[in-house]
Amino acid sequence: MVSTKSLLLAAFTTITAYAAPTKGPCKSLTPTLPTTGGDELVAPSPTARLKKIVIGHGIQNYTCSAPDATPSATGALAVLYDVTTLYPGLSKSALSSEAFNALPHALLWDRPVPLNRPSNSSYSADTSAPFPAHNDLKGLANYPSLKYAGHHFFDTVGTPTFDLDVSGMKAVVMKTGNVAAPKDADKGVLNTGAVAWLTLADTGKGMSKGVNLVYRVLTAGGNPEACDSAAVSAKETGGVQVQSVPYTTFYWFYEQ
Ligand SMILES: *[C@@H]1O[C@H](CO)[C@@H](O)[C@H](O)[C@H]1NC(C)=O
Ligand SMILES: *[C@@H]1O[C@H](CO)[C@@H](O)[C@H](O)[C@H]1NC(C)=O
Repeated sequence: MVSTKSLLLAAFTTITAYAAPTKGPCKSLTPTLPTTGGDELVAPSPTARLKKIVIGHGIQNYTCSAPDATPSATGALAVLYDVTTLYPGLSKSALSSEAFNALPHALLWDRPVPLNRPSNSSYSADTSAPFPAHNDLKGLANYPSLKYAGHHFFDTVGTPTFDLDVSGMKAVVMKTGNVAAPKDADKGVLNTGAVAWLTLADTGKGMSKGVNLVYRVLTAGGNPEACDSAAVSAKETGGVQVQSVPYTTFYWFYEQ
């Protein structure tokens, strides 16, 4: 899996800090946003404060309106779990950087998408009530329990929203940067590839609370399949094919 120079460096700094004889509280360690090794997102400014790291598990939605069209992204739904204290060096229960970076892959393949489904088939979610009860994620092989943190969805006017209801924080954002996921990223359960890494900044409409800058990094899965001409032309779909593709990722939340 992806293991980046900056992440390793951060882990190394951490280990050094822990190995040093402790006089008073540990130095505060600043997690370093992972890098792709290729084109990179613009890093947060040094004054931006990291508030939370979560892992999201859900679906990326797409529509195809013509058989030869490129699927068009129409939104996403995901349940978010808090992994902040699992970041290497941030607490006694922290993971190794290898284990931390492998979390999106592990979760994507170990668990079904944690959304209510309208029927047994496909990865779609129930439109009126997609989110199940706010459960922690327990029993993921080789990992501790992950605390439920909130939901990711697109609001009624299609704005990406992160409702971190447990901590009372909220990010209502727009995409301001994107770079391709690394070539060795997890291609997902449909083998379609990992969605791009993103920078999502506050919309400026005063709807965010406590966090106003979000990074989507270490993505697994989520890219669309090619448009299916049979599905597009099927009468019952009204000429539109809707796809929902499972994905996992880390979201890093900052206040700047
Ligand atoms: C789900 O599948 C089971 C068994 O295949 C079937 O009995 C049930 O009716 C299905 N439920 C829905 C909502 O399609
Ligand atoms: C995504 O598609 C599902 C159906 O699979 C639907 O329930 C949900 O409302 C859609 N959400 C967005 C944001 O497009």
